[in-house]
Amino acid sequence: MALKDQILNYLIVENKTISGQEMANYFHVSRGAIWKAIQALKEENYQIEGRSHEGYTLQPPQNSLSIPFLKNHLHKNYQIEIFNQIDSTSTYAKQLCEKTQDECIVCADVQTNGRGRTGKSFFCSPGNLYFSFTMKIENQERDLSLLTIRCGLATIHALQTILQKDCQLKWVNDIYYNGKKTGGILSEAIIDFESKAVQQVIIGIGINLYPCKFPDEIHDIATSLNVKQCDKNLLIASIVNEMRENNQSIDAIIQEYKQKCILMNQEISYLYNNQRHYGKVIDVNEKGNLVVIENQQEVILQSGEVTLGSQNYEKK
Ligand code: BTN
Repeated sequence: MALKDQILNYLIVENKTISGQEMANYFHVSRGAIWKAIQALKEENYQIEGRSHEGYTLQPPQNSLSIPFLKNHLHKNYQIEIFNQIDSTSTYAKQLCEKTQDECIVCADVQTNGRGRTGKSFFCSPGNLYFSFTMKIENQERDLSLLTIRCGLATIHALQTILQKDCQLKWVNDIYYNGKKTGGILSEAIIDFESKAVQQVIIGIGINLYPCKFPDEIHDIATSLNVKQCDKNLLIASIVNEMRENNQSIDAIIQEYKQKCILMNQEISYLYNNQRHYGKVIDVNEKGNLVVIENQQEVILQSGEVTLGSQNYEKK
């Protein structure tokens, strides 16, 4: 590894001001070599403050994605790729994990062909959060049950802890802020053709962090978290780490999901067998399905598009 990259990792891990002499001793090089490596890192846009008699301090990146910073926050090793621009991080992550079989994280500052659920496109604006990560599935039952719901919760936990933004979920996994959609999650699977078992899942997450100019069709229903700055590496790592560390009971997950789900006890409309239906949400069951009452009959929704509001609201 080049000296500059070793210094970068050292500054990240130590997370404090370190003098040129201390680094020179540690790496067995001259102070001049340290100075040169620091200049090279600054040229790569790392924010390093140098104060005479004190030393060098690395500032956490604001708004920019960085493999060393991301790695430092992650609890496990991943193959990581970062792009300024890509068609879709989920499309790329799928190709990558099919090729290498490794678990990976793919991030980008913007996507030109962001994909949403049910084949829809997903609006992207430069600088917001767009990433996908893959998870190997070892135990079909244990690993897959509630995966989508857990991912929604992991995402809103990270937004709360890191950005102090109180978000909600709209079943299954739209991220809501102040009553409007601010992000979404797309879960896809790689399935073994013969055994039909899920080998890996690809989870793609997009969040509008910064003020955006939304297209007319979504202007009234979309919003952003309106943050000023954010360490996207920390957000990504926090979500991915929580997804790996699955130690909550099913009951606890469902209870929390119900508290955060804006559809609970609300009138909704949904498509079922290509027909629009209207009902009231009464529960989320232990499989993460939505339980709806329609004409005094219980209907279990496993997937699909649900709209908040009653028949009258829909017809407005
Ligand atoms: C939805 O709201 O329908 C889901 C949107 C998921 C968008 C994310 S952004 C990162 C990843 N790459 C994609 O193409 N889609 C997901």
